[in-house]
Parts: sequence; structure tokens; C-alpha cells
Amino acid sequence: MSLVTLRQALDEARRGGYGLGAFNVTDLLQAESVLGAAAETDSPVIVETLAGSSSHASDERFWRGLLHLVEEYPRIPVVLHLDHGPDPDACRRAIDAGFTSVMIDGSLAPDRVTPATFAQNLAVTAEVTAYAHERGVSVEGELGTIGGSKVDGSRAEIRLADPEEAADFVAGTGVDALAVAIGTSHGAYKFDSPPDGSVLHMDLIERIAAKVPDTHLVMHGSSSLPAELRALVNKYGGTLPESWGVPEEEKVRSIAMGIRKINQGMDSHLAFTGAVRAQLAHDGLTVDPAPYLRAGRLEMQRIVAERMRVFGQAGHAGDYTPIPLADMRARYAA
Ligand code: 13P
Repeated sequence: MSLVTLRQALDEARRGGYGLGAFNVTDLLQAESVLGAAAETDSPVIVETLAGSSSHASDERFWRGLLHLVEEYPRIPVVLHLDHGPDPDACRRAIDAGFTSVMIDGSLAPDRVTPATFAQNLAVTAEVTAYAHERGVSVEGELGTIGGSKVDGSRAEIRLADPEEAADFVAGTGVDALAVAIGTSHGAYKFDSPPDGSVLHMDLIERIAAKVPDTHLVMHGSSSLPAELRALVNKYGGTLPESWGVPEEEKVRSIAMGIRKINQGMDSHLAFTGAVRAQLAHDGLTVDPAPYLRAGRLEMQRIVAERMRVFGQAGHAGDYTPIPLADMRARYAA
């Protein structure tokens, strides 16, 4: 079994001086793209998924499929991570299903619209961390609010992370990783023009890293939204407006500044959907889904592999062996 915890994978990435892409998947085919890219580039990898986001009949069925698929890649260290767990129950479900890492997104109050207070965020995150660490599983929390769409479709306004809160949050929750709101947002619509320092607050990364040196920082909303992928989608019937994402060079710079986990979902979706649309348009007689789904899978694998090389994780799959969950549990208990 190649499953590893987020804690171990990010510790190793820090030792090796590289970043780890966390690639969102909404079905098993997308998971095959990510794992295929990891095998192609010899990369450790984080496969992440949102609760309730898949096209499969239930989370549990999808998650069981993910676990089986991971077994097909015994040489690749794979973190199976729940992205933006909206509440402790979703996190417990993922942990009980076999995930090695969960994010509890306590940045919004239980109504998932109002920003949570610091105390609310801390309490819900500490609750999940206690449950997870008793089982050796890693936890990511969120400081500030990342913009854009959240797990349940609600739109969240950006609230930048406050470096002064970081140490108290980590001390009060024990999280292994911390998503920091630095101005990015989720989804296909991010910046109205190429981002500069007025919207992308890279300085916050260094300031927060200095406050919590043992906690791994996470950048969300990291898709670049390549113009050529948007153009492909639009050429074959899409209507995506122009938008700019996080440039590749900023992601590389963020890794040097202290970001260790880089979340990407939208670029994968753009690549997959662009290829599917093109394939369908080129063959008007197509009714068998396999050829266009295969085109989507391969195009997504291409862009994910490209990112793995950019983040520096390529070539590091063989650097370490997974620490069993029981040993991780003992470490947390010590
Ligand atoms: P994008 O929407 O930029 O791909 O970011 C995904 C993400 O941060 C998932 O948590």
C-alpha cells in the first residue's frame, strides 16, 4: 500500500526543497490522470477530493474506488486528502473510510456564508484534529478565507490571513498544515488582469511561515487558468469569460517562501473538458463515451505531469517509505 500521511509527505517535501501539488479529482478517471502523471514523473502526490463533489452515486462508493485505484501504484507515495471538509462529520467520514489526511474548513460559520470568528474556527478545527490524530491522520486548517466557491457552492469573500493569529491557531489546534488566504480564490474566475502585489499578497507567506515554522503552509486557488485551455473550451461551445490565475513563476516563488502544498483543480477541469469538447466536435457520430473520456483523461494527465515538474516533486517518489498510521498516532500522543 502506497498511502502516506500529509504530515510525512510535506515533511519530506520540505527536506527535499520542493512543493507538492494537491490535485482535485471528481471521479475515478480524473484520479487515474493524477496517479498516471505521478507514475510518469516518479512523483509523490496528493490526490484530493471534496465531499459531495463526485459524479459517483455516493462519496463512500467513490472513496472505496479511490482506495482500490491507489493500490495499483505501489511505488508512488499517495496522500488521500479530503479538501475543504465543511464540518467535523464530513472529516470523520473520510477518516473512517481510509483517508490519510483531511482539511477542516472552519473559515465559515455553520451557515457556510458568514465568516467564522477566530474562536469558532479554532474550536471546530481542534475537534477534528483530536479525532484525526488519535488515528494517525493529518489535518489541514484554514486561516482567513480563500475566495470563490466553497464546497457547498456558496461564494466566499476573501479575508486575508492575519499573521498575528497564526501561532495561536496552530498552538490551539495542532494542525499539520495551514491554508493561508493570500488573495487567491477558487474556480475559473479569479483575477480581472494579470495579478500583481495589490491582489496577490505573497509577502504574507513569509510572515506567516516565520510565526509557525513547524506547520506546512498551503496555497489554495492556485490554478493558472491557461488562456489556450480556455480558448479550446470556448472554441467548441464554451462561454468562459477571460480571467487570470496564479502564474507558474509565482507558484515556484511561493515554494521558496514557505508554501509546501499547492492546490489545483480548475486547470485539470479545463484540460479535461477542453479535450472532451474537441473530441466530441471532431466526431459527430460518437456515441461511445470511451474515446472522449480517454481524451480528457490523457489531457488532464499531461497538465498535471507538467505541474509536477514545475513544483519540483518529480523524481522524488522513491525517496521514502510510508510511516504506518499507528506510528504516526504514537508520535502525536508523545
Ligand atoms: P483552483 O480552483 O484554483 O483550481 O484551486 C483549487 C483549490 O484550491 C481546492 O481547494
